[in-house]
Amino acid sequence: MPTVISVRNISKTFPSAGGATHALSNVSLEVAPGEIFGVIGQSGAGKSTLIRAINLLERPDTGTVTVDGEELTALPADELRRARRKVGMVFQHFNLLEGRTVQGNVELGLEISGASRAERRSRSLEILDLVGLAHKAASFPAELSGGQKQRVGIARALVGRPKVLLSDEATSALDPETTRSILDLIKTINIELGLTVLLITHEMDVVKRVCDSAALLNGGRIQEQGSVVSLISTPGSQLAHDLFPLGEVPAHPGDTVIDVTFSGGTADRPVIAQLARTYCLDVSILGAAIQTIGGNQAGRTRLQLPGTPAVNDEAIRALRGQGMLVEIVGGHS
Ligand SMILES: Nc1ncnc2c1ncn2[C@@H]1O[C@H](COP(=O)(O)OP(=O)(O)O)[C@@H](O)[C@H]1O
Ligand SMILES: [Mg+2]
Repeated sequence: MPTVISVRNISKTFPSAGGATHALSNVSLEVAPGEIFGVIGQSGAGKSTLIRAINLLERPDTGTVTVDGEELTALPADELRRARRKVGMVFQHFNLLEGRTVQGNVELGLEISGASRAERRSRSLEILDLVGLAHKAASFPAELSGGQKQRVGIARALVGRPKVLLSDEATSALDPETTRSILDLIKTINIELGLTVLLITHEMDVVKRVCDSAALLNGGRIQEQGSVVSLISTPGSQLAHDLFPLGEVPAHPGDTVIDVTFSGGTADRPVIAQLARTYCLDVSILGAAIQTIGGNQAGRTRLQLPGTPAVNDEAIRALRGQGMLVEIVGGHS
């Protein structure tokens, strides 16, 4: 598989009062060209350390980081400065210079590149146009809304034509509606520029809305990762569970409770009606969660079937035979 970002076995330990914090332990991930890869985890999971390790703002203690075919962890300082131009970065708190205009902030992304003043001006206006802020070029950050500030942050990250965009909680300081507009902008940039994006977030909604692949980071370790489509059909996947939250399984003594995951071609078939008819089953729907993922409908339905799992064995096998993931979540005893 071709990759744009390849992280192999990186670890990072920080000294802390009374010992050491293992911020990252043996983390590996591969990001394919043109995809949006999301790393999700709770506060303190090691997300920022991971993203900072990818452009070596934080040098890992062990392991390698390769971006666009260059192993950054093996480069001497001057070559690393050049190679870092392949990586654009956006931050939760925008990090804009208040004393500079919007255009001045965007041009910052070009000042180390040796571009002439005229080139910087035209390129920064071009990219401000792409993020929908050309009309604010002469404004100062204090005159902008949070969403507009993040658009400037994104323009600054893109102005030097990076190969990858790293986003550290870019939408976490924004309200839900602005979050959606920024995520849509990231998706547009991803498609129009073919730009590979690695974003980190603590919000599942972000993964749902834009990510092709995702990794769950927990206590500095990757707990699971893969394409979102493959994760939702992986039995026991925590990410899939969080994507389609169906809550606690209620007690139904004597009955069987199953979670059926639909994806791709199985999503639009009248599966439940068929099941009820073929096996004369009195099927109850206890819950359902549906999402559009990667342009396809996918979802999970919790069904209650009368009788024990043994009694329902044939029906369950028929569902699995049709390509559905079926997990028996209640009625084992
Ligand atoms: N520069 C640092 N010095 C000491 N400890 C740090 C440093 N950066 C991060 N940590 C610790 O590493 C762990 C992971 O932090 P971080 O990567 O910021 O997590 P996240 O971004 O997921 O909230 C935390 O326990 C944090 O306190
Ligand atoms: Mg963080």
